Amino acid sequence: MGKRKMHGTWSSRWTFILAATGSAVGLGNIWKFPYIAGENGGGAFVLVYLLCIAIIGVPIMIAETMLGRRGRQSPINSMRDLTIEAGASRAWVAIGWMGVIAGLLILSFYSVIAGWSLKYISVLAQGTFVNATDDIVIASFETLQANKGEMIQWHSIFMLMTMAVVVGGVTKGLGNAVRVLMPILFLLLIALLAYGFSEGDFGQGFSFLFNFKFDQLTWNGVLVALGHAFFTLSLGMGAIMAYGAYMPGDAPIGKTVVLVAVLDTLVALVAGLAIFPIVFAHETLQPGAGPGLLFVSLPVAFGNMPGGVIFGTLFFVLISLAAWSSAISLIEPGVAWLVETRKFKRVGANLLLGGIAWTLGLGTVLSFNDWAGEEYQIFGLTFFEFVDALTANFMLPLGGMFIAIFVGWFMHKTHIRKEMSHETPKMFELWRVLLRYVSPFLVALIFAFLVWDMISS
Ligand code: PHE
Repeated sequence: MGKRKMHGTWSSRWTFILAATGSAVGLGNIWKFPYIAGENGGGAFVLVYLLCIAIIGVPIMIAETMLGRRGRQSPINSMRDLTIEAGASRAWVAIGWMGVIAGLLILSFYSVIAGWSLKYISVLAQGTFVNATDDIVIASFETLQANKGEMIQWHSIFMLMTMAVVVGGVTKGLGNAVRVLMPILFLLLIALLAYGFSEGDFGQGFSFLFNFKFDQLTWNGVLVALGHAFFTLSLGMGAIMAYGAYMPGDAPIGKTVVLVAVLDTLVALVAGLAIFPIVFAHETLQPGAGPGLLFVSLPVAFGNMPGGVIFGTLFFVLISLAAWSSAISLIEPGVAWLVETRKFKRVGANLLLGGIAWTLGLGTVLSFNDWAGEEYQIFGLTFFEFVDALTANFMLPLGGMFIAIFVGWFMHKTHIRKEMSHETPKMFELWRVLLRYVSPFLVALIFAFLVWDMISS
């Protein structure tokens, strides 16, 4: 019977593409990528990030999708069955567990930032920033960060929106939503790019992103680039495994995954190319402004362009929708597992896991005000920065590395080949070599350099 029946399958390969793209494209592309690129000096960081996507991310993403489709359940139960099938140690199931935990940790801060974006829909719609100076826009963002009550309110609204879709079951709720959302999202981004091109300092924005200045890049920057490759592809925590579980059996995995990765990368680069020309055209805006970069640079632009109220409102709608379709995939692995094993209803599973993530999110809210001081820091980071670094820079790359090792070294080749029947023998072997020797080795190497760098300084 149907393991498949329990959660449903996507109506076609295209729905998987849209859903996986919906998961991948989110705050990571539009909010996080520009500000971490800004903090890490631009060009060289971007190059490392692109290499990590191509050499490490894509092979592991193919492996994770394949595991999901072969397991056909939540990541935890898929891994349990697949370890038995492979005759490997049950310890591999920890990949699923770590993923569920990472998903909730990420969702906790993701929801707070998405809440900012929801709030900015109404701020822009009211025309607050029409003809506003840079100082007014910056002050307005600082006011929001100081207002715990308001941040909690929007964080709660976003969390409820996420749970509402997941309760309906992702193959129904999400499958239909992404079909409409994704194309609109792409169109709006292109429009913003056109604005950056005509009104911003496009030349400087472009060279900031693509002029490789390696002296600006530290080993920590390399780790952030690696971590972001995982974060932006939704990789290493079971989201893609959970979505792969709903993929029709005859869909080609390799081609599909490459397409999703290309779309995701394009969105990040276009977002960067839209934002940095605006930043460089305004002296008070700094590329290294941190998590607020998006929320100060874009309102400045929208406030000073014709039609900015409509355009700006739409843009924050777009970011919120992109965040929404990603958040769904952060909670789905845990929900699917609770529904399968513990006889939970989807509603109960959502309330439980959403509640945990919501509570943890309060720590992120406080990181921008009451807990901003040094006495509350963990390893020199605020609570928000700590959770972000712990998940993106450590849990996701480690999860991905273990997935690569499991598929590359422990699963039977014949079982893998069965799922990957669309790939030519050459492509299949190339992928397997990357997965066995290259991807896990590079992740370990970056960790090793980081430790060495820490010890030597
Ligand atoms: N990929 C999403 C983004 O870029 C975030 C995410 C990470 C979603 C991990 C699911 C799993 O915003």
